[in-house]
Amino acid sequence: MTTDQKKQELEKIAREIKAFKGLDIAKNATHAVPGEGDPDAAIMFIGESPGYNEDMQGRPFVGQAGMLLEKTLLEVLGLKRGDVYITNIVKFRPPDNRDPFDNEIAACADWLDRQIKIISPKIIVTLGRFSMTKFIPGVTISQIHGVARYYQPSTMNYQLIIFPMYHPAAALRGTTMMNAFKADFVKLKNLLAPQAKIEDNTPSQASLF
Ligand code: URA
Repeated sequence: MTTDQKKQELEKIAREIKAFKGLDIAKNATHAVPGEGDPDAAIMFIGESPGYNEDMQGRPFVGQAGMLLEKTLLEVLGLKRGDVYITNIVKFRPPDNRDPFDNEIAACADWLDRQIKIISPKIIVTLGRFSMTKFIPGVTISQIHGVARYYQPSTMNYQLIIFPMYHPAAALRGTTMMNAFKADFVKLKNLLAPQAKIEDNTPSQASLF
């Protein structure tokens, strides 16, 4: 697919998301938050769900957690947010920033799977446990953050790399998490080197798309 075709396909998905009224969180949203970034990005960040600021602006990760993500991205990888693709598991803000429900994750899954297929990133960075669980179920984030593994989507003809990280909002809550978040970014940088080795090559069973 050319970059223009990718853009058109991503815009089509964004239109579907904005028109969707099949969940209460969709009906109550100020703005849906489909995702944004480079359609040819090598790295795709997948968070949990939009918060207050994201709902107000219709853009992912524009609050405090987003500022940390953006700053670390630039400091460690030398990348701007427009160089990567950023989206969420759930495309509408749950009230009071509660955890997303299973039916909300399920209702948004097809859009996310299509976004992944169109962008075809080399690496998916999962931010937080909801995003991690889509690809790597049955583990805790404290066990596996910062460890890359291969993942074979059923509709794609190559393996992606899944790189689980703590959510930046968790990093903002304390020094230990902040240090882990930054250390994982350095590992992510090493992963981008052409000769990078994947530490854990267990293929994930969570082939949802
Ligand atoms: N937290 C998320 O998981 N996603 C956002 O877009 C903002 C905050």
